[in-house]
Amino acid sequence: MKLVVANLKMNLDYNSVLEYSKNVNKNIIVCPSYIFIPYFLNGKVGAQDCFIYDEGAYTGNVSPLHLKQMGVEYVIIGHSERRNIEDDNLINQKIKAAIRNGLKVILCIGEGLNEDKNLKLLNQITLDLNDIPLDNVIIAYEPIWAISSFVDSNGQKKEPGVIPTNEQIEDSIILIKETIKNKFNKNIEVLYGGSVDPQNISILKEIRSLDGVLVGKASIDYNKVNEIYEILNFDNI
Ligand code: PGA
Repeated sequence: MKLVVANLKMNLDYNSVLEYSKNVNKNIIVCPSYIFIPYFLNGKVGAQDCFIYDEGAYTGNVSPLHLKQMGVEYVIIGHSERRNIEDDNLINQKIKAAIRNGLKVILCIGEGLNEDKNLKLLNQITLDLNDIPLDNVIIAYEPIWAISSFVDSNGQKKEPGVIPTNEQIEDSIILIKETIKNKFNKNIEVLYGGSVDPQNISILKEIRSLDGVLVGKASIDYNKVNEIYEILNFDNI
């Protein structure tokens, strides 16, 4: 089964969450705001981040131990919307904390608009995954410029529909898989994220090395994310 992760970010209000949780396909890993996690425990649920410690005087942070105790299975770490305020060392500590508590980590990596892709991916893999057992780690390759919320240094919003070609995505996925195989002797699942929607998923599904997708904006509509899941996992295009 190809994974579909719905990163709801800080979207959906209480009433929408109740409707969403009734209608979203139960195979989709839904990552809502922390406060709404209990409404998704009848399916697969993930958090959008976690802290580096299990407990203590850390006002406003969320413990990976508490997430685990509440029935959370996955946690996204290193999303580009958080990397603005987080460095690779912090991300490495967060992954360690999540793994220590039995959570499955979805680590987001990807290059910015004018960054050298290979160098960036190699750096992130080396620093973020340093000294981490990889059995419960999944990578989401998300080129930052392809994410629907991207705004460039001139304040220009991302053009809708512009994402890497299948060849570019495949190159990145293979680079990530081979680097991890060579460095850590592990096979790892790699998802693609960045403006995935029901239109482009039938093209993306042609990528042989793709293990799934991480969906932001389109996942706010449960019909759209359900459709993405169905197209990716069944041949009903
Ligand atoms: P997007 O978001 O699907 O809206 O581009 C993906 C992400 O931010 O993970």
